[in-house]
Amino acid sequence: MSRLFLATSNPHKTHEVTTLLGSPWQVEDMLSHPGITLPEETGTTFEENAIIKAKGGSAALPGVLVMADDSGLEVDALDGQPGVYSARYAGENATDAENRLLLKERLRHIGRNPAQYFPARFYCCLALVRDGQLLHVATGTVEGWVSMIQRGKGGFGYDSMFYPEGFKKSFAELSQAEKNTLSHRGQAIEMMKSWLDRNPQP
Ligand code: IMP
Repeated sequence: MSRLFLATSNPHKTHEVTTLLGSPWQVEDMLSHPGITLPEETGTTFEENAIIKAKGGSAALPGVLVMADDSGLEVDALDGQPGVYSARYAGENATDAENRLLLKERLRHIGRNPAQYFPARFYCCLALVRDGQLLHVATGTVEGWVSMIQRGKGGFGYDSMFYPEGFKKSFAELSQAEKNTLSHRGQAIEMMKSWLDRNPQP
């Protein structure tokens, strides 16, 4: 088994990455390494923040392959917000519910119809680092709509407000397997996986 440290404390992300990378990979995260802290996400792009997190994790784990994900939701009618601020849209320690509430408020200001759907996308950037050296970057996007109407109990973050293109269900109503086949993270991981297959000992 190959060891990979995912620089996140979000168990949903770890679950998605573990499932998508498959059995040759033993994925560890910050919940299994509580002593590791990551630098502040001071970047203005998903890529900058993914690299900051991956290099931060790598500084604590010499010799280990470290991957970080930076992801978020971009709403066209809000000029791309919440974007890189998705996790802290309603404040530094905001919960997912608080972030969704703020997004609903912002949408209410621009849309007269509460059932309106606004074009949006999830974006994900993955950075792979070993010993502080950036090895590869992979990205993924899923287009769709956000709505003030929340549906479904699964997932995390903005899942219950996001309706992927071509589907009548929100991300929170899809099974994990269905979400993985079309999600931004699923696509980015597929790209990273194929790079790892082509570079077996990066
Ligand atoms: P990060 O952990 O700094 O990359 O922040 C990612 C944030 O974007 C999460 O806290 C969620 O609010 C949002 N996000 C990213 N990916 C997803 C997803 O797959 N579903 C729902 N929300 C997501």
